Amino acid sequence: MKITYLGHSGFLLTGKHGQIVIDPLLTGYPFPTFKPEDIKANLILISHGHGDHFGDSVEIAGHSGGTIVSNYEIANYCADQGVNTHPLHLGGSRDFNLAKIKLTIAFHGSSMGLNPAQYMGNPAGFLITMDGLNIYHAGDTGLFGDMELIGRLHPIDVAMLPIGDNFTMGPEDALEAVKMLRPKVAIPMHYNTWPLIAQDPQAFKSAVEAATETKVVVLAAKEEYNL
Ligand code: NI
Ligand code: MN
Repeated sequence: MKITYLGHSGFLLTGKHGQIVIDPLLTGYPFPTFKPEDIKANLILISHGHGDHFGDSVEIAGHSGGTIVSNYEIANYCADQGVNTHPLHLGGSRDFNLAKIKLTIAFHGSSMGLNPAQYMGNPAGFLITMDGLNIYHAGDTGLFGDMELIGRLHPIDVAMLPIGDNFTMGPEDALEAVKMLRPKVAIPMHYNTWPLIAQDPQAFKSAVEAATETKVVVLAAKEEYNL
């Protein structure tokens, strides 16, 4: 599998039989990354309704004919825009042939727009099983103890974890997340997009690798990691 970082919390997973994109924030991302038309995906995963995760999902689903997989509320919102959708909800999973997707809990918010903000269901993370590998994308979340359960039930090959602090876990809590999840590899996300979530990913890598068996892979947008 090839993992391509899109920036912020966005990733493209390229497997033997297709591609999955997660939380693609391309338009408006302040560093060089892909254009929405560059990204083709069979499945488009949206963790919650905030704009920095919803991103270019509908456009990517439209031009690639892929299916948006998200919570029931976001799936309905996207279906109204004429794209293919499949709703899941927390704790539920489905085998899409290309990959099995399970929605995991996340402690955060999920709304879209302002005055009035539109309700977009519960925020989520994803457990993705493709080509025999388990990939966990935590979404936006604070630290929670059931990460131990997620790691125990699904031995994790790669965990994408937010480290930006302010809106999500910071680096210290993300280290505790790694201790509970016990992934082979962790990739930090949701940092340095704006000054408010400025962090040093190399310091996070040093702290995690000193305290655990997990390898930390720091990626710049458009960089790839093969496993
Ligand atoms: Ni958010
Ligand atoms: Mn966010």
